[in-house]
Amino acid sequence: MDLREHFNRKTGRIGSSIIAEMAGMVGPDGISFTSGEPSSDLIPLVELDASFRRVLGKAELFSYPSTAGYLPLREWIVEWMSRENLAPSWLDPSCLILTNGSQGAVNLLAETFIDPGDIILTESPTYPEALLAFRREGASILPIPIDSEGPIPEELEERLSGNRVKFLYTVVNFQNPSGCTTSDRRKAAILDLARRHGFFILEDDPYRYLRFEGSPTRSYFEMAGEDRRVIYLGSFSKIVAPGMRCGWCAFPACLRNKLLEVRLSIELCSPALTQAAVFEFLRGCDLKKHIEGLAFAYRIRRDALVGALESEASGLGLRLSVPEGGFFLWGTCEGIRDMLAFARYAAIEKKVGFIPGRFFYPNEGTGEESIRFAFAKVSPEQSREGAARFKEALRSHLGSQPS
Ligand SMILES: Cc1ncc(COP(=O)(O)O)c(C=O)c1O
Repeated sequence: MDLREHFNRKTGRIGSSIIAEMAGMVGPDGISFTSGEPSSDLIPLVELDASFRRVLGKAELFSYPSTAGYLPLREWIVEWMSRENLAPSWLDPSCLILTNGSQGAVNLLAETFIDPGDIILTESPTYPEALLAFRREGASILPIPIDSEGPIPEELEERLSGNRVKFLYTVVNFQNPSGCTTSDRRKAAILDLARRHGFFILEDDPYRYLRFEGSPTRSYFEMAGEDRRVIYLGSFSKIVAPGMRCGWCAFPACLRNKLLEVRLSIELCSPALTQAAVFEFLRGCDLKKHIEGLAFAYRIRRDALVGALESEASGLGLRLSVPEGGFFLWGTCEGIRDMLAFARYAAIEKKVGFIPGRFFYPNEGTGEESIRFAFAKVSPEQSREGAARFKEALRSHLGSQPS
């Protein structure tokens, strides 16, 4: 029997991940700018080891945890968000659920809010795994062009005419993939449109703390205040460790019961043991210092890659936009007609990996010349070698393209 005949319709709307494909092609001995993960040497192993030891003896952590997640960690996050001016005054721990990374929250919200045919706004380009979750539930995506200040309100407004939009999904700081940060001015304009047109905002913010320069921005969540039309997603993946699978969503109280019901129906809860270990880690460390250390290290990596790519490949048409933080360098490569073919060639022949930008655009046929490099996992020495390989690949590919 071929069980594939019984796949449901949802599975037909999703496909495999280009990031996994490209990472696999480069192989472990290649130089890979493919995946947006923290560098393993920057994961606080010693402190996490001590945190796990402190929680292992607690019998209550081995029972079924609460659906909303480990309360001390939820309390800690609320206090932290309030101290950082990210939260409206009404936020309390009952308005926060711990999830399996922020992807867990994206899925929970997709599952809760999207009916087939619903219209969702996203940035163009945007984080592709969120698109997968929205599309899986049958959403129809309306892409909003962005510039260096974030989504362009005039473009957004244009798409609202004749369309009943449910929500806007937006990655507000050092966006994946473009590296852009939405300015507070833009946030105010977009919130105003949201109020006038009756949609809500899903604010995804996993990179906020990895700022190398410039001033922190406000959050939509705090700016909306009593209007309560924003759900905020946070994550410890980029500042602690992605393998802990610990993220959260913070939301207005009116959503609590339904979100918990949906959560229960999907996975009951997520492991209290790891949530308690994250809590112990946070309690026991100087988080500000830890984050400053990460930002310092990632800034060196960004600068090394920007410098190396600019000196090797700007003469061959590569243009980069330099982000103020995060994990990603975004650019365009003039004259490349099929970026996927080029990326496969570079990965297989020159053992250097990057992601063709078109996979981040909701609409097919957009962003053919664009390209994403993830610098977080790559040391400055590897970046220099990677940039040299990139140049060789680019030169031979440009020379071999049919005219
Ligand atoms: C914009 C964005 N949102 C969410 C995630 C998911 O992160 P996690 O589920 O590890 O918290 C990522 C991961 O790369 C991301 O780039």
